[in-house]
Parts: sequence; structure tokens; C-alpha cells
Amino acid sequence: MNELQLSKRLQTVVSFIPKGSVLADIGSDHAYLPCYAYLHGYITKAIAGEVADGPFRSAKQQVEKCGLSRVISVRKGDGLQVVAPNEVNCVTIAGMGGTLISNILEAGKGKLTAVKRLILQPNVGAHIVRRWLLENEWELIDERILEEDGQIYEVLVAERGNPYRPYTQLHVELLLGPFLLKERNDVFEKKWALEMKHWRDVIEQLKHAKTEEAMKKKQQFVETLHMVEEALNR
Ligand SMILES: C[S@@+](CC[C@H](N)C(=O)[O-])C[C@H]1O[C@@H](n2cnc3c(N)ncnc32)[C@H](O)[C@@H]1O
Repeated sequence: MNELQLSKRLQTVVSFIPKGSVLADIGSDHAYLPCYAYLHGYITKAIAGEVADGPFRSAKQQVEKCGLSRVISVRKGDGLQVVAPNEVNCVTIAGMGGTLISNILEAGKGKLTAVKRLILQPNVGAHIVRRWLLENEWELIDERILEEDGQIYEVLVAERGNPYRPYTQLHVELLLGPFLLKERNDVFEKKWALEMKHWRDVIEQLKHAKTEEAMKKKQQFVETLHMVEEALNR
């Protein structure tokens, strides 16, 4: 992977960047995403934010190697702290867990006033990101699910609007993704077949559970399994 040959996962993220955007890519690592987005005409400028030393240096080197230091500013710092208010109108956060993505958005809310679109790619816990969007007036406008190198990834796209609009069965669609449930492609079917197998295994292991904690856990798995089975059998 490099600035010209991006993974399918990151290409999917980039495909949702509105043309002409000023981007903040938070957790940019090698800065492949903003370099690719600039070289392919998606953005006019970008900030590549990185909290860790090594990835920050890699990002700087990559941007210099591409001759893009004039248009991509590599900054070291935690989450959206690297962005000034009104500086960007599109934010990408990819390749992290849903909890971390939500924490970054929550801590950086004040930096999102001029932001028109969020493109978020949680590796796990997409439902945590959907819930954060719902609670913060961001409307989920599209989703993708894809498989690459044996891993399944989800991409969530949001703009300001009516956060309830995409949902008809809120609870289960927060988990499955309202657009993904409607589309039900092969990757989606595979993901939830695997998840449900895992839940059934846990329920089986907890069959003779005696402690209150284990019984509660089993009950949660049973309820979630039934909820998802019902939604998928509809
Ligand atoms: C697994 S990498 C993903 C890199 C790239 N976004 C991608 O999707 O391929 C996650 C990156 O996020 C950075 N990161 C984690 N927490 C961060 C935070 N709070 N602020 C900025 N960067 C963060 C890590 O240092 C790491 O380089």
C-alpha cells in the first residue's frame, strides 16, 4: 500500500469525500489516505493528525516524499486537538475501534462546527459510533461493508440532519447498520453468521452458569441473538 495504491478499505473511505473538501484525517499513520485523496483530486488541503511518534514521523516523511508539504499539514496531537475551529469541512477517522472513534469525536465536538461530513471506519464496535452519531445530531447517510485480507470492515458516512431518519427498528439497526441491513450483501451475511455462531457458543458455555454475573451475561447474549435472528428472518 502507498499513496497511489491504497487498500480497498481506505479507498472506500476516500470515495465518500466530497470533491474539493478540506480534510482532517485523524490517526493518519503513514498519511496514505490524505496523499491519495489529494493526488486523485478529492481534496484541496488536508491535516494529517497523529498522536504517536513513529506514525507521526512516517506521515511527515510520506508527505515530503510526495512533495505535498504545502497542502498536507502533518500535526502531532490527540484526536481533533490538531485542528483549529473552522479549519476543515470533512473528517476521516479509520482503522480504530468504535469506542476510540467515539471518544475522539466527543472530545473534539467543538472542532466540528464547520464540518459537513464525517467518514468513519471502525474496525470493531460500529454500533458505538452509530449511537454517538445519533446522540449528537449527525445523520447516518450511507454505509458500506467490505472484506479485505480476511477482515470485515464497515464504513459509516454522516452529515448533520435528522439522526433518526435512517432507522425503522432503532435498537437492532444500531447494531447491524440500517443501510447494511437493507442491502444484505454477502459480506454482511457472513459477518452476522459468524457473530451469531459466537453468541451461540458463549450461551452454550454458560448453560450451567450459576453466578449472577454469568447468568446476566448469558441473558444478554440470548436477547441479542433473538433480536438479530428476528431482524434477519423478516
Ligand atoms: C491502526 S492505525 C490506522 C491508520 C489509518 N488511519 C488506517 O486506517 O490505515 C491507527 C492510528 O491511529 C493513531 N491514533 C490512535 N489514537 C489516536 C488519537 N487519539 N489521536 C490521533 N491519532 C490516534 C495511532 O497512533 C495509529 O497510527
